Amino acid sequence: MPFENAVLLHRPTQSSQWWRSAVIYQIYPRSYASAGVGTQPGVGDLPGITQRLDHIAELGADAIWLSPFYVSPQKDGGYDVSNYRDVDPLFGTLADADALLTKAKELGLKVIVDLVPNHTSDQHQWFQDALAAGIGSAERERYIFRPGTGENGELPPNDWESIFGSIAWTRVCDRADAPGSAWENDPSWYLHLFDSSQPDLNWEHPEVREEFHDILRFWLSRGVAGFRVDVAHGLVKDPTLPNWQFHWKMVDGGSASASDVPPPPMWNLEGVHEIYREWRKVLDEFDTERILVAEAWVSPERGIAKYVRADEMNQSFNFDFLCCEWEPTALREVISKSLAAMDQVGAPTTWVLSNHDVVRAASRMGLSKTGKGPNGIRSFEEQPNQPLALRRAKAAHALMLALPGSAYIYQGEELGLPEHTMLPDSVRQDPAFFRTQQAEAGRDGCRVPLPWEANAPGFGFSPTGDTWLPQPLFWEDLAIDRQLNDPNSHLSWYRHMLQLRKRLQLAEGGLLDVTGFADLAGFGLAYVNQSSYGEVVVATTFTEPTVISSKWQVLFSSADLITTSGGLEVPADTTVWLK
Ligand code: NOJ
Repeated sequence: MPFENAVLLHRPTQSSQWWRSAVIYQIYPRSYASAGVGTQPGVGDLPGITQRLDHIAELGADAIWLSPFYVSPQKDGGYDVSNYRDVDPLFGTLADADALLTKAKELGLKVIVDLVPNHTSDQHQWFQDALAAGIGSAERERYIFRPGTGENGELPPNDWESIFGSIAWTRVCDRADAPGSAWENDPSWYLHLFDSSQPDLNWEHPEVREEFHDILRFWLSRGVAGFRVDVAHGLVKDPTLPNWQFHWKMVDGGSASASDVPPPPMWNLEGVHEIYREWRKVLDEFDTERILVAEAWVSPERGIAKYVRADEMNQSFNFDFLCCEWEPTALREVISKSLAAMDQVGAPTTWVLSNHDVVRAASRMGLSKTGKGPNGIRSFEEQPNQPLALRRAKAAHALMLALPGSAYIYQGEELGLPEHTMLPDSVRQDPAFFRTQQAEAGRDGCRVPLPWEANAPGFGFSPTGDTWLPQPLFWEDLAIDRQLNDPNSHLSWYRHMLQLRKRLQLAEGGLLDVTGFADLAGFGLAYVNQSSYGEVVVATTFTEPTVISSKWQVLFSSADLITTSGGLEVPADTTVWLK
């Protein structure tokens, strides 16, 4: 193709390593499907997932990532684990987990599970032992207990804030379970970067390290393909626990790492990498290739690349891409810098647009700020322009899935599911809602149970029709059974896109930046993906439509194109794949 002097951003890769090009579908177990075996009607369970796994195989994904299903008081949707080696009765049993793994294998899907190493639940045996054993005990060494400051220790040990809002320390004697307990007069404080029910572990302690090696082996022996590592950038803290007056939000790697902010003493410290190098060795004890995926809200991209050096993890979510404004200059920079940073360490870029922690892209992109978005949306806050959001989200997905590397999709994205922005506060469960004194909606709006059947109660989510969060009535039209029967549905479109991505081998391709080149100058972004299939142009419009000449064959498009006398018009906010 005549794109002389185009900048080569990335060379094609040929690899037998499945994860380098995989599409990985995130399941949030509470909200995927319920078979009615769990202890709470309306909460999804593992047998529900197993029954409905063919949906994901037929979509064309290569793997699933399951958010936590371990024993947990569910103070933070399961990210507060009290037993890492068993399944919470809410979700079923260990036998159900094994059955899920077996079914996934039959369907050719790999299974990645979540690992939560930064903190345990306060109901974990270790923490209960630590509370009971008292000040100065060996049991307390596994967590981060400290005396308070102020005249009588009435002030927290430092000024750190919890990600979920408010201070990151709780005084033992202030706990709700203190009255009448052995610790009712205990003045010490413990650190929790998240909720007070999620005490941070002390990763300097050898027992903590050994325990997690063992947990890795436990799940690897059961056949999981790897782990998504929760808060991968948070495990190691500066041992002096210095004050740091800034607030770091989960989705905030960017702003809190701005140059005028001193490096945070709790995030992204060098010491975390040694932990992952040890984990790599544990994974390598197993015959087939297993992977580690970092959830590290770290920016810029050079930072996340460190997590995926050859002797550490395999993938690291590209949150800069997720947080980027829907705007060509910024996106172009994120794309080129991400590919360059990952190429330096020989890792694939891991694209992502949504997950269970952020406002869904299919709504976020219709807000006045299209980037990282607010922490949830309430009925009286700015409402997304929904058609615009969906249109942009489709364009963003068609761009993402034509870029080289691996991509994660969050359950419901294949349906074009929007955020639930009208949830009544009375049903909210996210600790962020409570810890911010209801200033932030929190993440419940992206966690609403999936609609499976248009005409069933609860849209077929559970046998009783119960759903742990209410679904909007208009989701009837988005239900999977209805979309399956409609060749023009979002789901049909998405399936087609994933099939084509595979057929054209776009994930393995090299990438040339041809933005602004003649012929494609009307697009805000334009790339040539060079794979063994051939060359495919991937081009996106933003605010302005453009017309393409008849020399182009349109392989795929995120919106209907319009035939005009001058040629085919690609409307605004559209991605096309051309040949
Ligand atoms: C990141 C998880 O994705 C989020 O849901 C959770 O609340 C925090 N880590 C704490 O585990």
